[in-house]
Amino acid sequence: MTPLAALIREEISRTGPISFERFMDLALYHPRYGYYTRGRDPFGRQGDYFTASQLQPVFGLLMAAQVRALSEEMGRPADFRVLELGPGRGEMAAAFAEWNYVGVDIAGGALPDRFRGVIFAHEFFDALPVSVAVRRADAFRELRVGWNGERFVWLEGEAVSGEAAAYLRRYTENPEEGRVAEVHLRAWRWLEELAARLERGFLLAIDYGYTTREAVRFPAGTLMSYRRHAALEEVLEEPGERDITAHVCFTALEEHAAGCGFSMVRCESLTQTLLRAGESGALAAALEADTEAERRRRRLQLKTLLAGLGESFRALLLAKGVPQ
Ligand SMILES: C[S@@+](CC[C@H](N)C(=O)[O-])C[C@H]1O[C@@H](n2cnc3c(N)ncnc32)[C@H](O)[C@@H]1O
Repeated sequence: MTPLAALIREEISRTGPISFERFMDLALYHPRYGYYTRGRDPFGRQGDYFTASQLQPVFGLLMAAQVRALSEEMGRPADFRVLELGPGRGEMAAAFAEWNYVGVDIAGGALPDRFRGVIFAHEFFDALPVSVAVRRADAFRELRVGWNGERFVWLEGEAVSGEAAAYLRRYTENPEEGRVAEVHLRAWRWLEELAARLERGFLLAIDYGYTTREAVRFPAGTLMSYRRHAALEEVLEEPGERDITAHVCFTALEEHAAGCGFSMVRCESLTQTLLRAGESGALAAALEADTEAERRRRRLQLKTLLAGLGESFRALLLAKGVPQ
């Protein structure tokens, strides 16, 4: 049993079954044993998964071209900044260095008080802890985490109420008996916080996700865990040793953002955003290099981005205080 599993088991024996949001929070961000806090590098070949951020320099150059276009749309303000949420290894910092860049992760970095510019969030919202519910008769009941003497198990709790119930009513259309759905209220809290601080600018959120209409594709919910490049549906095993993600409901993100003062610019595949960013020569420039080996490496990165990752990720662009 991992040290973190022992701590969670102890908490359950003290308080009774815990919410999945609490379980995911501890599994990923416990100050000492959390997956993202215990000091082991989760990314890359030796880790558990790759992200587009590791496809440097091509991903960085194209995202920088996108940020440049957004800065021009704002009239290139002198105090333009780039704020990255959850930069992980920090691979995008070099690409955004020409602007006043700040990365905010669990380990450090502070949100600017008031700023103008672009907020870049790549695989950030899908790493935020969520609560989980299952449809029974005419209500959603919370799915909590208990301990059965051998392992962590799902237990059905009370009927979901309040803001979470309203969220489920709105974003889970015609739920059938047994349908499992996640509630992303932390993503909403982040949008509120960001809207209060961003005076003028854009939020670009790139993530795995779905719209309300597409939610029927996930009758068992979208929780996944990753270990050594294998995707696993079981998320309660080995807390602290595996990544856990929940797909983002882009409809919920977009609608809540509208209530916070953001307006929708576009929601499209990451491939479309990369191609748009590559217009006016940025794509050709990203593939330029001194040696044939480096040019080949960059062509392969572009292929992986456009035909692989880019098709399964979605990019949501929101504006605040910038007329569209
Ligand atoms: C899936 S990783 C993505 C890392 C990087 N953006 C990439 O594309 O490789 C999610 C990142 O979000 C960070 N994160 C999660 N919750 C956070 C929070 N509340 N504040 C700041 N960073 C957070 C995690 O520590 C982690 O580095």
